[in-house]
Amino acid sequence: MANNEDLFKKIISHAKEYGFVFPSSEIYDGLSAVYDYGQYGSELKKNIRDYWWKSMVQFNENIVGIDAAIFMHPTVWKASGHVDAFNDPLIDNKDSKKRYRADVLVEEYLAKIEDKINKEVEKASKRFGDAFNKEQYLTTNPRVVEYKTKMDTVSHRLYSSLEKNDLVAVKELIEELEIVCPVSGSRNWTEVRQFNLMFATQMGSTAEGADTIFLRPETAQGIFVNFLNVMKTGRMKIPFGIAQTGKAFRNEIVARQFIFRMREFEQMEMQYFIKPGNEMEWYHYWKEKRLNWHLSLGIPREKYRFHDHEKLAHYANAAADIEFEFPFGFKELEGIHSRTDFDLGAHQKFSGKKLQYFDPETNESYVPYVVETSIGLDRTFLAVLSYAYNEEKLEDGSERVVLKIPPMLAPIKIAVMPLVKKDGLAEKAREIMDSLKIDYMCQYDEKDAIGRRYRRQDAIGTPYAVTVDYDTMKDNTVTIRERDSMLQVRIPIERISEIVRERLKPVV
Ligand code: GAP
Repeated sequence: MANNEDLFKKIISHAKEYGFVFPSSEIYDGLSAVYDYGQYGSELKKNIRDYWWKSMVQFNENIVGIDAAIFMHPTVWKASGHVDAFNDPLIDNKDSKKRYRADVLVEEYLAKIEDKINKEVEKASKRFGDAFNKEQYLTTNPRVVEYKTKMDTVSHRLYSSLEKNDLVAVKELIEELEIVCPVSGSRNWTEVRQFNLMFATQMGSTAEGADTIFLRPETAQGIFVNFLNVMKTGRMKIPFGIAQTGKAFRNEIVARQFIFRMREFEQMEMQYFIKPGNEMEWYHYWKEKRLNWHLSLGIPREKYRFHDHEKLAHYANAAADIEFEFPFGFKELEGIHSRTDFDLGAHQKFSGKKLQYFDPETNESYVPYVVETSIGLDRTFLAVLSYAYNEEKLEDGSERVVLKIPPMLAPIKIAVMPLVKKDGLAEKAREIMDSLKIDYMCQYDEKDAIGRRYRRQDAIGTPYAVTVDYDTMKDNTVTIRERDSMLQVRIPIERISEIVRERLKPVV
């Protein structure tokens, strides 16, 4: 079996080979941490975005969607805290000249200790069999307790130093832990310094008269600055939400892991405006609701976990991530943040406009609190793709690569194929394709042997393939083949649509 690093490499090359994701400007050797979506990738991405939008906007009467501009008034980013605080601590290795996020170096050190704990647990569980009590073992085994204490001490030192912006202490921690550069192997580090992640550009026709503006690092601020407009024109009553999807830009110091961390990416965010004091209730509500959304794709629960934040962003009073088990381990997929009245309060102060809600029941005005759900579209794409990628050995000894993409997200829903091109079979297949393509993204394929055509569709995750053969010409039936089971059944042409529609529903 392939190890996870190999598996990840295979997923990346499959994504390229089959038209899902290409490196940006590849003919010029690419642009670091920027990617383009190909003919199937853009369909998959659109389907994820549409499903999110449907779940947020269409299924919730009190949530509406907007589409704000990427460029915003520069004061927005002063008010939001991004000019002063949207920084990552960076450190360079003087020998390799490689740049790292100082906090990530320490977090990777912590992950290694966690791996050691997991190995101890695995060994003990094998040794003790059914009698093994994991909870007890974790709290009593001296070696594990020592590892855990070390993890707690190190993470407390890291996060409290970051909180206090004490970069000297972060550097000291890296030195004390004897963390080496993975490339040069040396401990020859520069000082740690803050690096602002926003991309700046100029607006205006001349450089002299130009104003520095930023490419938005999150879509959320487009929602906050439109709070009044939407509340008034939509006659919204608290609690209510505003949703938005769109591009965000961050000059990430370390951009690795394919589309996991990019410099240009897409977010799907929803700000839920609530009465102050109710934030914990709504925070827990949205945590559960969002996890259920992921599960509704049919991906198993064990691929997800919550991570409650110790280090809170400058705007939050509670925050958790939904993490997904990517081939490189559990990593953040979505954030649920209780943002208090930080954003509306700050915009009220900086703009001088009253950003308040008048409660008709209590005759009071207040600045609403906000619970936000913020998910990366590209990361969801990567989660779906890495879950879907399967290499299977078949009964006849051959192998296939199949993308078991949740059917409702699959780029192509139905492949339509004539068994042979002659005797009117191709025309009949075209006729079927023409009637299905009104409702479904379909693909017509008449080239090569039928087995090879099935493999091509498996590789792009098409849930159904319909084959037109000589019997079709006699009795208007076709064979329909299901991607995962590879089972083929004979059905009347009119039933194709109904069978496919049934499979395109969410799982829960
Ligand atoms: N408005 C809150 C906010 O932006 P965040 O945790 O910084 O919160 C939310 O980002 C989500 O956006 C993340 O959970 C992740 O899925 C996605 N994301 C953030 N940075 C990203 C990057 N550089 N590349 C791809 N996705 C990213």
